[in-house]
Amino acid sequence: MTDITNSAPWRRLETLARGLATRRTIDLFGAEPGRAMAFSLEAAGLYLDYSKNRVSLEALATLFDLARAAGLPAAIERMFAGAKINATENRAALHAALRDFSGRQYIVDGENVAPSIDAAREKMKSFAGRYERGELKGFSGAPIDTVVNIGIGGSDLGPLMAVEALRPYWLRGRRCFFVSNVDGQHLADTLATLDPARTLFIVASKTFTTQETMTNAHSARDWFLANGGAVKDVARHFVALSTNAKAVADFGIAPENVFGFWDWVGGRYSMWSAIGLSIALQCGWSTFEALLRGANEMDQHFRSAPVEKNMPAILALIGVWNRNFAGAAAQAILPYDQHLHRLPAFLQQLDMESNGKSVTATGEKIACATGPVIFGEPGTNGQHAFYQLIHQGTDIIACDFIAAAKPASPLSDHHEKLLANFLAQTEALMLGKSESQARAELAAEGKGPADIDRLAPHKVFPGDRPTNSILFERLTPGALGALIALYEHKVFCQGVIWGINSFDQWGVELGKALAMKILPELSAPGGARPASADHDGSTRRLIEKINALRAT
Ligand code: F6P
Repeated sequence: MTDITNSAPWRRLETLARGLATRRTIDLFGAEPGRAMAFSLEAAGLYLDYSKNRVSLEALATLFDLARAAGLPAAIERMFAGAKINATENRAALHAALRDFSGRQYIVDGENVAPSIDAAREKMKSFAGRYERGELKGFSGAPIDTVVNIGIGGSDLGPLMAVEALRPYWLRGRRCFFVSNVDGQHLADTLATLDPARTLFIVASKTFTTQETMTNAHSARDWFLANGGAVKDVARHFVALSTNAKAVADFGIAPENVFGFWDWVGGRYSMWSAIGLSIALQCGWSTFEALLRGANEMDQHFRSAPVEKNMPAILALIGVWNRNFAGAAAQAILPYDQHLHRLPAFLQQLDMESNGKSVTATGEKIACATGPVIFGEPGTNGQHAFYQLIHQGTDIIACDFIAAAKPASPLSDHHEKLLANFLAQTEALMLGKSESQARAELAAEGKGPADIDRLAPHKVFPGDRPTNSILFERLTPGALGALIALYEHKVFCQGVIWGINSFDQWGVELGKALAMKILPELSAPGGARPASADHDGSTRRLIEKINALRAT
């Protein structure tokens, strides 16, 4: 694979970055009239303003050249055409097909998979309809009204994020819980609030081998059987979402209770598949379909728009600029929307599991920084926690601010205050505050010269902290779908530019394998085995310490 850092656009960007490092972002507004207009665009109901990044028109044009040098337009086409772009697992990445209602063909291994997607959607729709109408009855004959999704990673974060985001669309009288952690407390705390006769457990696992999910699923079934359910009732109370039909059957879930999907749906891209069943149950099918359609609108834009007018590509290129040319080590996701409180966690997996890699898709070492650290919290909470570092710390943190213009629940002037904070933060991060401004303010407060000298350095804000602003009218299912698809495609575009396969995740395997090895040293029947001499000294000592603490 050719090294993108040797390309002419990359070298040009390095030169441009050196020049821009000494310029103020605000001055670019003067030097480039109409910048706010030129550095913004609309797509699929979303508005993106990226003008508050320290990037010039010339640098932007060069970023577009970089995208072309990396072969982005052809890569987009290959993804939608079902090419096996996940080469290490020999799989396509066709999650976009799951939200296409146009009747278009999607070919995998020479076969059109669109009919099987339709059939899978119909099965989910029918099940969701029965749940909504109260037709799913538990072992006592009472209607099932509570869902527990047992899954982790992509089989948890997407549905959980979406169910929380779509709170105003919840069906009345329905409850939905998510259990992911192998820490038994997560399941125990959830079960404590449940009536087994009215509860449906969804075991969500693409592979149906994930330690956490299988442990939680077995414990949930034990709890169900110990609390009034009989073995024959398991069929009414447990369904599976998986690609591994055999493992599901071995668990004891009948084929009619399995909602399948395909190996070309990556875990962190799977909320559009059967993995989204909990969303369809808690919010109703029409809401789930609107979510899919919103994502599809972004897909259509992404597939058809030229790179200069392509929102996911632009978001990706601005991210590449900040990461590789402007020194940003991290990317904060800052939704000014309480219902999006799990969005940062969802995007953490999406981005870091996709692009947290050091070798190219063909195995060569990558010569530049790749995926940034992703973190975030909803505004305004984050303002009172970590924004200090974003404003005045020694690292550059790129920020995405996200907000709806209209609130879900109008309540006095809450939303205006929320939006005022959103705007104020993006302005403050760009403008900063100079030492002379800080001194003038202190003087206006009546401080004497000694106090001004002492306090002024603490009141200086360097500014030029890069931010994007993403706006939409209201957090509808369609807007949420478009927002998630925007980030999915952004991550894909960055992977293409860095030369990464964004659809595998080998980096999670080593820890999993070692945990399997350590487990018997902690919990062997008849007492733990001694710690293996194979471990490093620290791990061996920690195992011994844990066993000693557990023995008392
Ligand atoms: O450990 C990482 C991972 O493989 C993720 O990529 C995936 O989303 C998660 O585990 C859960 O996997 P599964 O759906 O197969 O249980």
